[in-house]
Parts: sequence; C-alpha cells; structure tokens
Amino acid sequence: MSKDIKRIAVFTSGGDAPGMNAALRAVVRTASYNNLHVYGIQRGYEGMIDGNLKRLEPRDVGNIIHRGGTILRTARSERFRTPEGRRSAYESLIAYDIDACIAIGGDGTFTGANIFSKEYNIPFIGIPGTIDNDLFGTDNTIGFDTAVNTAIEAVDKIRDTADSHNRLFFVEVMGRHAGFIALNTGIGSGAENVLIPEVENSLERLIETLKKGAKRQKLFSLVIVAEGNKLGSANEIADMVKERFSYYDTKVTIIGHLQRGGAPTGADRLLASRLGYAAVNGLLLGQKNVMAGIVNDKIVYTPLEETISKPKNLNEDLLKLAEVLAI
Ligand code: F6P
Repeated sequence: MSKDIKRIAVFTSGGDAPGMNAALRAVVRTASYNNLHVYGIQRGYEGMIDGNLKRLEPRDVGNIIHRGGTILRTARSERFRTPEGRRSAYESLIAYDIDACIAIGGDGTFTGANIFSKEYNIPFIGIPGTIDNDLFGTDNTIGFDTAVNTAIEAVDKIRDTADSHNRLFFVEVMGRHAGFIALNTGIGSGAENVLIPEVENSLERLIETLKKGAKRQKLFSLVIVAEGNKLGSANEIADMVKERFSYYDTKVTIIGHLQRGGAPTGADRLLASRLGYAAVNGLLLGQKNVMAGIVNDKIVYTPLEETISKPKNLNEDLLKLAEVLAI
C-alpha cells in the first residue's frame, strides 16, 4: 500500500448515469475501510475549480445505492478546458491536501483528467460512468444496462400501439457517436431494424427491408435509430421514408433523457460497486492515470489516454443476430 495517499477527492462529471451514486458509495466506503479521508467535489470540474469540496463519511453515502442521478451533481465544464481553469482546480486540490482523485464519468471527463495529469502531479483514477458504453477498457460502463432497459421498456409500450394501428415507428435512442444502446435495445425489443453510426446505412436498404417485412405479413414495424447514425435524426429519416414507402402509417418517438434517469439495474449496481472498490484499491496499489474497468469479468486498469483514443468495437455477432432475428 502506498504510504503517500491519505486524502482523496471524488467527483462525478459529464452526463449523469444511473449507478453513479452506487459507485460513489463504494469509493467512500472502500476508502474509509482503508483509513483514507474522502472529499466529495460538487458539480465535477466546476466544483474543483471553485474549491467546492466536502468531507464524506460512510454514513453520508447511505441510502443512495438505488438512486439515479448523482448526489454530487455534475456539469460539463468549459472552464476546465482552459489552462487557467485547470490551475485553479489544482490550487483547490492542494488547499485541501488532496493526494489523488477519482473521476466518475465518460470520455469528456477522462479527456480532462488526462490533460490535467500531464500538467500536475496528482494521480487520477477513472471510473467509467456513462450510458453510452463508448469507453475502451471495460465491457460495460455504469448506466448502460439501465439505459438499455429503460429504452426496451419504452419500445415494448410503443410495440403495443404500433401493433394496434399497423404503424411503422422510428424510435430514437441516445448514445452520442456510439450505437451500443441502439443495438442492444433493438435486439432486446425485437425491432425490425437498427440504424447505428458504426454501420454504413442507406435509405434504399432500409426501405427494402421494410418492404420485405410487409411482404412477409408484418403488420407493423419498429426501427431503432441511434442519435449518431449517419442517415439523420429519426424525424428526418421518417420523412424520407414516408415519401417513398407509404404502406404503414409512420410515427416517431424520441426517448431522450428518460434513458439517463431512474433507479440503476442490479447489473449496474454491481458493476458500480466493483469499480468503486477497484478504483480505491488501484490507487493504494500505485495505479495512476488509469481507468478501472471490467473485461471478461476481471478488473483491469487501462491508461486514461487509451480509454479515450482507442475505439471500442461493437460485437459483430450482435449485428448479425439483430438482422437474422428480424426476419
Ligand atoms: O453522454 C451521455 C449522453 O446522454 C449522450 O447519449 C447524449 O448524446 C448526451 O449525453 C446528451 O447530453 P446533454 O444531457 O448534455 O444534452
């Protein structure tokens, strides 16, 4: 165990994700178990710049494991992108005698941590918390499973009404530049088609598939649209399809921020607890400027630099599965 680390700070940053609270709880309790003092920073890098730190004890993180959002609150900080902002953040950490930081967030959070760690000598450990699942170095990010379950629940409801009216629905899900939420939602909800950024889509092919479905007596159709796909938004795609294929009455639903809230699933609570524990233990074992992740059920530490620069590939088998099961 490194003797140097006595006081750590923890914060959540970027888009919130269900399970961030469970990760915070695990960090605070694991740290306390190891006699470390923990400080919670409010509103991510914004609070770091403003010196908004507060001591956290194990009881302060009671009754939060099941809560969505983040009790530390979060922000997308523009100021931290500037050298002056990062200098103020460093000064706050020094003022509180912080030896290391644990950052719970996604690629924006880790990009900031990676830059900061090159400028100042305060070790960072990242915990992947984003619904998008777009970080290299972990099979799943915290919040992804919950977001997929929320989206599937929504599509199940849309399926009822789509079936009743013989309609074609385009359902847009989040994921920014990644199609993980869309692909898993598509398979889990039995959608006819999934449009994701990682795969070249064409309007012709989409219409062809819809026509084939109609020929096979499909009375309604569901298409899951990842917000980052190249054909356009669900509304734009629906308009283009309507012009060329009017067999179904066509509707659009954008699930939006519903996917970001709600109680984390059991899988996300477990993942968050394991990663919070792994982050503190990693620090104590001398890890720095890495992200704690789980790959094939094993804890792994991946340099922050790699988590944001290496692409996380979709499972090709799932792509084929989605196609075959939509027959
Ligand atoms: O990164 C999480 C995410 O929900 C993305 O899926 C989405 O593109 C983005 O954040 C939305 O960000 P905001 O809540 O700032 O509008």
